[in-house]
Amino acid sequence: MHLLSTGIRGLDVMLGGGIPRGHMVAVVGQYGTGKTTLGLHFIYEGLKNGERGVIISFDEDEESVIQTAESFGMHFSDFQDQIVVMRLEAEDVKRSLERVESEVKMLVDDIMPSRMLIDSISVLETLYDDAGRYRMLARVRSLVKSSGVTAILTSECDRTNPFSSKYGIIEYVSDGLISLRIIRESELEEAILAIEVVKMRRMNHSRRPRPYSITSSGIEVFEEAEIM
Ligand SMILES: Nc1ncnc2c1ncn2[C@@H]1O[C@H](COP(=O)(O)OP(=O)(O)O)[C@@H](O)[C@H]1O
Ligand SMILES: [Mg+2]
Repeated sequence: MHLLSTGIRGLDVMLGGGIPRGHMVAVVGQYGTGKTTLGLHFIYEGLKNGERGVIISFDEDEESVIQTAESFGMHFSDFQDQIVVMRLEAEDVKRSLERVESEVKMLVDDIMPSRMLIDSISVLETLYDDAGRYRMLARVRSLVKSSGVTAILTSECDRTNPFSSKYGIIEYVSDGLISLRIIRESELEEAILAIEVVKMRRMNHSRRPRPYSITSSGIEVFEEAEIM
């Protein structure tokens, strides 16, 4: 089985080597837990290997995505011919999912990426009722699968359950789920960040939550440390 490095060494160890090629993996967590940063590491790792990547961004425009990456020392501007950032508005996607699907297909045919980041699907999710949301996410899955990419999809977690996405559907349509959460011992203490691989089809992954930090060089996972 071919495994793709996430670009975060400790996370690769937790996964048992990396993400299986062709998987669609959901990364869920509260705002500020590093979902976008994790996705950028994954794309940048591909760029450094000579792979091409597509970022579908609902939150930021192209320039801002690249600046964010640069702020973590990921020099996307060195790989301009390998990366495309496609900015989408959730409202537009809802209005004409078919048009967006064909635009993404054209882009994929054009640049033949091996990695894709969809960041974040949360606003789009809020625009549908339960049945519509399931159909939309199933179509996103089909689009990812027919694109032949390995993908990371980010989403806000449920307020009361950080292991679950807000609506609890993404984890069913995804091949894997990584949870990022904030652990607060008390209101006065500094919060601890914890990462856990909740699900990863076809992998004998670790299930232990591990501490991680976000610094100016991005996410570092302490895969041997206990959460204290
Ligand atoms: N240079 C940096 N050094 C340390 N932490 C940073 C730096 N840049 C951003 N962060 C932290 O990362 C967080 C943003 O992570 P992000 O990936 O955007 O989270 P999410 O997508 O889950 O909202 C910020 O709230 C901040 O705490
Ligand atoms: Mg984000």
